[in-house]
Amino acid sequence: MVGEAGERRHLLDVDDLAPEDLERVLETARSFSEVMRRPIKKVPSLRGKTVVNLFYEPSTRTRLSFEVAAKRLSADVLNFTATTSSVEKGESLKDTALTLRAMGVDAVVIRHPVAGAPWLLRRWLDVTVLNAGDGMHAHPTQALLDLFTMRERLGDLEGKTIAYVGDILHSRVARSGFKACLAMGMKVLAVAPPTLLPPVVPEGVEVSYDLDEVIPRCDVLYMLRVQKERLLEGRFPSPQEYSRFYQLNMERLKAARPGVVVMHPGPMNRGMEISSEVADAPHAAVNAQVAAGVAVRMAVLFLLLGTGERGD
Ligand code: NCD
Repeated sequence: MVGEAGERRHLLDVDDLAPEDLERVLETARSFSEVMRRPIKKVPSLRGKTVVNLFYEPSTRTRLSFEVAAKRLSADVLNFTATTSSVEKGESLKDTALTLRAMGVDAVVIRHPVAGAPWLLRRWLDVTVLNAGDGMHAHPTQALLDLFTMRERLGDLEGKTIAYVGDILHSRVARSGFKACLAMGMKVLAVAPPTLLPPVVPEGVEVSYDLDEVIPRCDVLYMLRVQKERLLEGRFPSPQEYSRFYQLNMERLKAARPGVVVMHPGPMNRGMEISSEVADAPHAAVNAQVAAGVAVRMAVLFLLLGTGERGD
């Protein structure tokens, strides 16, 4: 992320961050989470900068939190959603990118259904590019906010065990999360029916098909949404069958360690991958993840675009 002097800096995936960058993001996010507890939640660090949110896929949390984060840093924010723009008239990503370039924006936050789209933007534009989720590929700010949330609950993450559970095949959250957790020295498990696992998992990730066996070993249970919009027919027999084996419910939670942290990137399918009781239980860190999302995105925007002066 931190390039040579004068080089553009981007966040396309977790691998853009050297271990010391990861630490710097988490530290900076911690100081911004303090700013968020103040009555006036704004600092002038990015005054005069323009950030564009370019969203080609539906999103609530990620888009709103990037918007709030940029505004709290006093940047100007433009929101571009595919359904209210010339994309409906057939404009290509490249032409949209060139329009943004002509307008002189400083950063583009992009979410796109096609894996690799943020890398194309980086080639076409000479502005900072942040990946807010590309297809089934990567979602680095989610991985960072998840690390932040786990640190708040568990302290040092080295040696802690996390299981990503469910629709790993379609999950950019898991793909970036694996890298981030391994970089922190965590033990990482991928738990899913064989049909919802990718053909290859990264080195160091242990695969299991048996949630009940895994639960007592974990410090973090990370439940993934079953992605109906990406699901091809026949990956599991029925929602009932899926939840029978892979839903985190109160019964299963009883087998977990007392301080276990339950996480979910949202939006949750209550009653599918997670029961409503578990989603509302004190173990669940889902709202903490949302709050961390703002602090972490402030940190990333600040480190990529700022001059180093927080200005408060
Ligand atoms: C995730 C996403 O879009 O990749 N959600 C999010 O960023 N809040 C996960 C998901 O949609 O299941």
